[in-house]
This record gives sequence, structure tokens and C-alpha cells, in this order.
Amino acid sequence: MTRIVHLTDLHFGLHRTDLVEPLRAAIRDIAPDLVVVSGDLTQRARAGQFRAAMAFLRGLGVGFMLIPGNHDLPLFNPLARLLNPFGAYRRGAARDLTPVVQVGRVRLFGINTADPFQWRGGVARMDQVARICQALQAGPQDGLNILVCHHPLEEPPGFERGETQNALEVTQKLTAAGMHVVLSGHLHHWNIGLGISDTVARPLLQIQTGTALCSRIGERDHGFCVLEAEATTLRAARWMVAEDRAQFLPDPPAGFGYQAGVWRKLP
Ligand SMILES: [Fe+2]
Ligand SMILES: [Fe+2]
Repeated sequence: MTRIVHLTDLHFGLHRTDLVEPLRAAIRDIAPDLVVVSGDLTQRARAGQFRAAMAFLRGLGVGFMLIPGNHDLPLFNPLARLLNPFGAYRRGAARDLTPVVQVGRVRLFGINTADPFQWRGGVARMDQVARICQALQAGPQDGLNILVCHHPLEEPPGFERGETQNALEVTQKLTAAGMHVVLSGHLHHWNIGLGISDTVARPLLQIQTGTALCSRIGERDHGFCVLEAEATTLRAARWMVAEDRAQFLPDPPAGFGYQAGVWRKLP
């Protein structure tokens, strides 16, 4: 079994400082094989904010993979935003904007959907997706393939903003090439399974995780997701902050089984 912690939208610089230690303690106790961070590490892409985010991640004592979010681009420096939009992220967080990581029999592919020409929206770039499709077709056919992206490929009910350019085309290409799961953030809103129910099966299992730490006014449901993957099953549990105890605690997991090209909800 492979255990992965999905963290997203940390927003260091505009974050709940009181939740940093409880988050660290919870992840250490879980002892995952990998921590995945799907963007918005920082609030404003400042060097000190990247330093704080990376100190937190390095302090977890486990391997992690990162991709940028729209907040990891400089907002108030138009020259940097245009000429070297990912310079601050590359210097402060990670050089690779599209990392690929294998852990156990799970392969994770990161794409970079942050776009200097949009303030909040993003774009799934076709060249990145083509490379992933090639790798999927050339790679082992028996493992679990997970896409990690900041902007969701499908917006849940109530969020129909059309914020991710190329989302539909990319979803179709990746599904046809053998992608099984999508982890995303950005919405600061939870949705595990996105449309998969007792009666509806879907080829792509989408897990949209809420913010772990953002302290913007109105933010709620802080937490992270723990995935437990076996050959053809995946269990996903939200770990939510219990405000009265300053502690992250697990909800019962949702289970999904993959068979004949589709995911079904497990009892
Ligand atoms: Fe965010
Ligand atoms: Fe975002």
C-alpha cells in the first residue's frame, strides 16, 4: 500500500500560523511515502514566503513534490511577471515545474497551470500534456497514474468559472492515455470523487482538496487529504482541523475501486 498526503494552497505569508505545528505533527504521525503540494505555496511569491514554505516542507522529514499555483507568481512586479514569471518559484521552491515522481506502484505527473497573463485563472499547456501522454503510453501498464495540477480540470457544482483553459481537451487526452486520478487545489473547496456515486462510475477520479493553512477572511474547512493506494483501489480521507483542539483529525475515508476502465464507489 502506498500512502500519499495531498496538501494544497498553503499560502505562506497569509496563513494560519497556529495551524503550522498541528499540521506538521499530523503529517509526521501519518508517515506518508510522499507529500504532494499542488500549488499556492505562498501568498505573493516573495522570497521569505518561499523560505517559510520550504522550511515547513523540509521539516516534515519525508519526500515531497511541488508544482506552482497562481499565487506563486509575482503579482506586483509586472516586469518579473512578464519576463521571468517562474523565477521566484524556481529560486525559492523547485527548479522543475513539471516533476514526475514514482512511489511504490504509483506514478505522479505534475503540470504547471499557473499563467502570468491571468490573475486567477490557469491554463493546461498542451506540450506538457503531450509529454505525459507519451510517458503513460510507454510506461508500465499495471500501476496507478496520478496527475497533480493546481487549477482543477473540472469545476464542481457552484464553481462554474471556466478558469482552466483547455481543461476538457486535456481531460479527454489524459484519460485516453491512461491517467487514473487528478489531484488539484485552487478552489479552497473540497470535492472527493466529483460525480462518482453509488450509481455513477467515471473513468477519472478527481480529488479536490481544500486549503491547509490559508487565513483569508471567510476561509473554512482547513485540512489535507490522505490517499491510500493499492493495486486497483484508492481510499481518500480528509483530515480536518478540529478548531477547539488545534489538531487535524481524520474523517472516515471514501473508497473507490478501478475496474474495466472506470472508478466505482466502494461500499
Ligand atoms: Fe489558493
Ligand atoms: Fe490558486
